[in-house]
Amino acid sequence: MRVLGLESSCDETAAAIVDDGKFVRSDVVASQHEVHARYGGVVPELASRAHVVNVVPVVQAALDRASCTLAEIDGIAVTNAPGLVGALLVGLQTAKAIAWVTKKPLVGVHHLEGHLSAIYLEPDPPPMPHLALVVSGGHTSLVRVNDHAQVIELGATRDDAAGEAFDKGAKLLGLGYPGGAVIDRLARTGDPKAVAFPRAMAAASTGAEFSFSGLKTALLHHVRAHGVPDGQALADLCASYQAAIVEVLVRKTRRIARREGLGHVQVCGGVAANHALRVALAAAGAEDEFRVYVPPPARCTDNAAMIAAAGYHRLIRGERAGLDLDAVPSSPLPRGA
Ligand code: KG4
Ligand code: ZN
Repeated sequence: MRVLGLESSCDETAAAIVDDGKFVRSDVVASQHEVHARYGGVVPELASRAHVVNVVPVVQAALDRASCTLAEIDGIAVTNAPGLVGALLVGLQTAKAIAWVTKKPLVGVHHLEGHLSAIYLEPDPPPMPHLALVVSGGHTSLVRVNDHAQVIELGATRDDAAGEAFDKGAKLLGLGYPGGAVIDRLARTGDPKAVAFPRAMAAASTGAEFSFSGLKTALLHHVRAHGVPDGQALADLCASYQAAIVEVLVRKTRRIARREGLGHVQVCGGVAANHALRVALAAAGAEDEFRVYVPPPARCTDNAAMIAAAGYHRLIRGERAGLDLDAVPSSPLPRGA
C-alpha cells in the first residue's frame, strides 16, 4: 500500500510517499525557521501563510522524487490534530482535495502518533510492547505502546514541553529560534556541572509527570544576576541547562521502564535529536538492560514520512475519514491510535 503523508501542524510543510508503512520513497520538508526566527517563536498567521505557499510544491516534489503520480497512491494520511489550527487546515484541505479528486481513502493522524511511528521506518524497530519517550516542542510524555492500535499515555508534562524549555532558554540567551539544536551544539564543549539548575519533579512519587517551566525561570534569574555570558562560559551555561532537562528525562524513563517491565524504549520528537539525551539514554539502557531506539535526527523533527507510516496502520485496519474530517488544535493522544 502506497501512502501519501502530509504534515503542516506547526512550522514545517512536509509531504512523503511511503510504501507499506515502512519503505520511504520520498520525504520532503520545507522548514519555515527563517520566517519565524526574528520573532523568537512560531507566529501562527505567518505559519499558515507559508504553508499555503509551500504545500503544493512540496507535494509535487514528493511525487517527483518517488517517481509516481497521484493515480499510483493507495491512500492519503494527514495530520489533523493537534497543532496550530490555521496551519493544520492547510494540510488538511490539501489532503481532502487530493482524496476527492483521486477518490482515494483518507485518514487523519494525531501528530504524536506520527512521532511514535517514525521508528517503524527504521530497519530494526522496537517490538511490542515498548515504552516511548515523546519529547517535542509541544509535548513531553511517556507512552506505553502495546500495539499500533493501542497506546497509553502514562504521564506528561504539567507545563512546558522539553523542546519548549530548550527554545525559551535559547531565546533568553539570544540564541535564536528554534533553540534546541543551538543549545545542543554549544553544550558539547561546556561543563554540565558549571551551574546548578533544579531537577523538577525528579522524585519517584511524581510518576511519569514532568515540569520544565521552573527551569526556564531559574535561567532567567541566573541571567538577571550574571548577564548573558559568551565563549566558554556560554557553553558551560548551555551544558548545565541542557543537563537539567536531559537528566530528568532519563531518570524518569528508566524508572518507568522498570515499573512497566519493558525492555525496549524508543525516543521520538524533535528533542530526540539531542546528542546528550541520546548518549545518556544509551548509557542508562546499557546499565538497566533495556534497548534504546532513536530515529535519525531528521525523522525526530517534524516530517511527513512518520505521518504516512502511522496512516498506513489506520488504513489497513479499514479506517476511512470523510471530507468532514476536522482540524483539532488541542487533542490528547488517542488510546486506540
Ligand atoms: O517534533 P518537533 O519538530 O515539533 C513539534 O512537534 O513540536 O520538535 C521541535 C522541537 C523544538 O523545540 C526544537 O528546539 C527541538 O525540537 N529540537 C531539539 C534539537 N533539535 C530540535 N532540542 C534539543 N536538541 C536538539 N538537537
Ligand atoms: Zn512534532
